[in-house]
Amino acid sequence: MPDSARICAASEVPQQGAKGLEVNWGERRISLILLWEAGELRGYLNSCPHTGVRLEWRADDFFDSEGQHLQCTTHDARFRPGDGHCVAGPCKGQSLVAAPLVIEDGEIRLLSPDSLPRSARRR
Ligand code: FES
Repeated sequence: MPDSARICAASEVPQQGAKGLEVNWGERRISLILLWEAGELRGYLNSCPHTGVRLEWRADDFFDSEGQHLQCTTHDARFRPGDGHCVAGPCKGQSLVAAPLVIEDGEIRLLSPDSLPRSARRR
């Protein structure tokens, strides 16, 4: 098995907001959140550090109403989009797991998917 997995074209990640998607890796299905922060691509495992559930309640809807933080819709934890650090809520002080990403020829790839913890469980 190769040591990286294609995710999507970089152009598919919106300049505002975030994109959620699933990556198949062998038997695994890895849920990710992708976004641009100050022109840099960021990617996180879509798994709240509080209980492990996915953050969004509907597709690609990850930000709070102010558009400042990623928000877990289960208990309203807020995460900085730049580093995934939780600034409010029951998991304050913890962080989303950063996904190791690279952009090659306009394609986003996930490096070393085996190094990521198991993806979030569904609600
Ligand atoms: S499950 Fe995310 S804040 Fe509780």
